[in-house]
Amino acid sequence: MTRVIANVETSGGVSLDACPTTLTLWQRSLELSGVSSRPQSRYLGPLPMTPTTSSLSAASRRTSPPVISSLMQAALANPALISLAAGFVDQESLPAEATARAVAEVLAHPVDGRRALQYGTTGGDASLRSEIIRLLEHGEGVARGAYEHVMPRVVVTQGSQQLLYLVAEALLDPGDIVLVESPTYFVFLGVLETRGARAIGVPVDDGGMRLDALEATLAEIEARGELDRVKLIYTISEHSNPTGLSLAEDRRGPLVELAKRWSKHRPIYILEDAAYRGLSYIDAPEPHSVWSFDATGDTVILARTFSKTFSPGMKTGFGVLPEALVRPILGLKGNHDFGSSNLNQMVLARLLADGSYARQVERLKGLYRAKRDVMLAALETHFGGTDSTVRWTVPAGGLFVWFSVPEGVDLGPLGSVWARCQEEGVLYVPGQYAFANEPMAPETNHARLCFGVPEETDLYEGVRRLATALAECLDPVA
Ligand SMILES: Cc1ncc(COP(=O)(O)O)c(C=O)c1O
Repeated sequence: MTRVIANVETSGGVSLDACPTTLTLWQRSLELSGVSSRPQSRYLGPLPMTPTTSSLSAASRRTSPPVISSLMQAALANPALISLAAGFVDQESLPAEATARAVAEVLAHPVDGRRALQYGTTGGDASLRSEIIRLLEHGEGVARGAYEHVMPRVVVTQGSQQLLYLVAEALLDPGDIVLVESPTYFVFLGVLETRGARAIGVPVDDGGMRLDALEATLAEIEARGELDRVKLIYTISEHSNPTGLSLAEDRRGPLVELAKRWSKHRPIYILEDAAYRGLSYIDAPEPHSVWSFDATGDTVILARTFSKTFSPGMKTGFGVLPEALVRPILGLKGNHDFGSSNLNQMVLARLLADGSYARQVERLKGLYRAKRDVMLAALETHFGGTDSTVRWTVPAGGLFVWFSVPEGVDLGPLGSVWARCQEEGVLYVPGQYAFANEPMAPETNHARLCFGVPEETDLYEGVRRLATALAECLDPVA
């Protein structure tokens, strides 16, 4: 069989790890800078026979080194580098004082203090789950108590990443199909790779996943006789990672209706990843979640997190599950950790209850709105103009701008722009990581730029360096 590894065709599934002499210069330079040399080794079918020297499971062997940690390492290794890559949050704004106060209050309490230091339940702390219900009610603009009945279907997880993993573990066998936005959150593509699932991309426009394209993709899959393998539609509904764009409100109800209509052989669930909900920079209420359109509650899995709106260090997220998935997911979470950190949960519950959380979200909105504006202004300065061939998204929230150059220009880790950017001292996430391998090869002319971490001056300077690195590559195609 033939397997594509980092655009290099190798036969027999020989991995670069297993064959160090095949490392070329570019691979070495990427390794040295801490960047994975296997940017496209997403799951492409069954692996060859287990090498006799390895005891690793098939799941482990098909898992590529995580792109994200290698990019973060590159940034940490070179402090002069301006990283527009890492999806970290603004360091200075992290709510240390409010958290310290809440920790002290929880621990000072005669009963809660010790309860917080004990194991909890697999589903999560009751006080946090109750605050989560209030948060959902507030976000959807419904009366207090309207979602009380949902409480048994709320599970608190170690960040929303654990929920994404648990959902994949609960639903997907090797060869099962997940329909994802094109582009999508590349870490989730890694989860699918580990599960041996097939990710098939669905085109997006300014309103997120295109429902006509989704319908057409499902029809093609059905014509191939593979509809029974489709288990999940994954959408990042708010200010997506990586595009910064949201699913249009008028697509949300129809998306739920579409999933139900195509659930011919078995349920096709929607996994709504709303990691950036709350971080909206326009003066309008956020749209209703996709989840809120699921009147029967049996189709949409809602994944949320407190990482972006409060603190990734608390690593606390949650899911609202269809009834049929509660027991399977709690069973799997039981095997993972039999419950997330009780202390973190109780501290968060307190911060939500006393209004600190809401105040922090308001503060972050102002801060990130300003950073976004700096990045957009810098892009306009360096790439704007009516004859410009460069495009970028204008996100109404979140942390990301999706940056695109003409098709012939390669922003991937094998292209010259990537290397020139390292010389100039700026890092971005190559957009190709964010594409599924089906129905066509990942596009290489995009980059994900994050405005969360750098100071405003660095944001401006980072874009200037990007422009310098790109100048010579863009000239010939301009
Ligand atoms: C779209 C999306 N989903 C989920 C996550 C997971 O975040 P956490 O596990 O910190 O909640 C992230 C983190 O960057 C993300 O961007």
